[in-house]
Amino acid sequence: MSDEPHGLDRGLTNYGDRDFARFLRRSFARSMGISPDLLAKPVVGIAMTPSDFNNCHRTMPELVEAVSRGVLAAGALPRAFPTVSLGEVFLNPTSMMYRNLMAMDTEEMILAQPMDAVVLIGGCDKTVPAQLMGAASADLPAIQLVTGPMSTGRHRGERLGACTDCRGYWARHRAGSVDAEEIAEVEGRLSVTAGTCAVMGTASTMACIAEALGMSLPGTAAIPAVHADRLVAAEASGRAAVRLIATKIRPSQVITEKSVENAIRVLMALSGSTNAIVHLTAIAGRLGIRIPPERFNQISDETPVLVDLKPVGQGYMEDFHAAGGMGALLRELRPLLHLDTRDIEGRTLAERLDAPGGWVDRAVIRPFSDPVSPVGGLVALSGSLAPDGAIFKRAAATPELFESEGRAVVFTGLEDLSRRIDDPDLDVEADDILVLQNAGPHAAGMPEAGYLPIPKKLARAGVKDMVRISDARMSGTAFGAIVLHVAPEAAVGGPLAAVRDGDRIRLSIRDKRVDLLVEPGEVARRLAGFTPPPMPERGYKALYRRTVTQAPEGCDFDFLTHRGAPRTP
Ligand code: FES
Ligand code: MG
Repeated sequence: MSDEPHGLDRGLTNYGDRDFARFLRRSFARSMGISPDLLAKPVVGIAMTPSDFNNCHRTMPELVEAVSRGVLAAGALPRAFPTVSLGEVFLNPTSMMYRNLMAMDTEEMILAQPMDAVVLIGGCDKTVPAQLMGAASADLPAIQLVTGPMSTGRHRGERLGACTDCRGYWARHRAGSVDAEEIAEVEGRLSVTAGTCAVMGTASTMACIAEALGMSLPGTAAIPAVHADRLVAAEASGRAAVRLIATKIRPSQVITEKSVENAIRVLMALSGSTNAIVHLTAIAGRLGIRIPPERFNQISDETPVLVDLKPVGQGYMEDFHAAGGMGALLRELRPLLHLDTRDIEGRTLAERLDAPGGWVDRAVIRPFSDPVSPVGGLVALSGSLAPDGAIFKRAAATPELFESEGRAVVFTGLEDLSRRIDDPDLDVEADDILVLQNAGPHAAGMPEAGYLPIPKKLARAGVKDMVRISDARMSGTAFGAIVLHVAPEAAVGGPLAAVRDGDRIRLSIRDKRVDLLVEPGEVARRLAGFTPPPMPERGYKALYRRTVTQAPEGCDFDFLTHRGAPRTP
């Protein structure tokens, strides 16, 4: 250990008498009933996020205990501390509004409290991005541990998992083919264990991205939440955090342009969540790393989808784990990866992949020669309707809609959508394009409203997919021909705000464009009358509205993105 203060001596507030400050802190620490011996050790913080409003983190107490066990066994003092916890379905108006709050909480508590390294335990959609954003900015040695995915339930001989099957069953209920009694049964069979959503939704995608970046221990992303190996992974993460105190490997050395590119490859091969793009952009932005949309599309066009999981394919996260998990996927992707990136253990990706791999279930993790799809799951769009960009998940969309031109049916906001979408008099046909305005970051905190329901009268007539366009996000567990994250959003005067019922819109996945076929002079005339929605007057929402960036910048707060050198504690 060097001479610089470590353990409980870090960051002592000093009003002229340093020894008194040290004496006082130790005296208070003694009140926790810890021996002076242990209090003299280096400290590993454990950012824990239990909450009775976060079902995905139900196993947090035993994970904290297992991490602590690992820290103690390796000779350091574990100190768990809480931060904000974000449970996806319990937050209003949307969990996305609070991701940056959690990132700030995480960053500031890592730096304000005396710890030499930190284990971050998250799981639900926004929590892992928030923790990685905070850790990247704090730049103290850090390890990400995830709570792990749920296991599946059973319904009439079929496996069910949150929450692609939630949507599938609900769509059939809306269309009239699943009755009230059955949907009530299904309700109790979708989320049957602790853990995060059982498919390749946002939480699972971010867990895999954390591992691809090198911020989690190898092989830990997909271990089911209730599997004994999840606790072993937690113990190992505690031990690894103690090693990090000696190696001093920092997030800024692990999250680099190359590891971010590797993470994008993994995102494509997983056909992962569209939300992961916003989150990865925000994490990378904390370190001044930006991957332009052209590069993103190049990676997408070169990287096949190899993992056959819902919402795009068939399997669940438990299958991905049993099939070989991230190790097997990375080995398959090896020719496309930057192999000189280093993980939190200081090992290069080449070294990791040189180690012998185990058996691989080729039905779930396909060989490069027999992919689920020859190109990546996601594409970045541009065009007159989205001058700063938009995202399309081609792997989860109906290919017949890739080249579409249609008449716009416009909803001016979330309320308008819920009021009129099922109106039997709504003037809408199957080949129309549904447009939702004012659901972007400024307007609404960017909720997962982009998965507009198929109007009931069309659903009943058998329509399963339509082109839908918005400045919102969609759940990583959702699917459809859906253009998301349109930027600039309508609420800041983007061209999306100018769309009117009956305008023609063209989507071309081949050209990676979405265009409003209205002449530019007319668009400008319509936008001249634009007034932004009123600003919230106080509190966090006011801070959010004043400082949140658009989707292509990761929806981070402008004052939290990279400024010069990373912070050091
Ligand atoms: Fe937490 Fe899906 S609700 S991961
Ligand atoms: Mg989700």
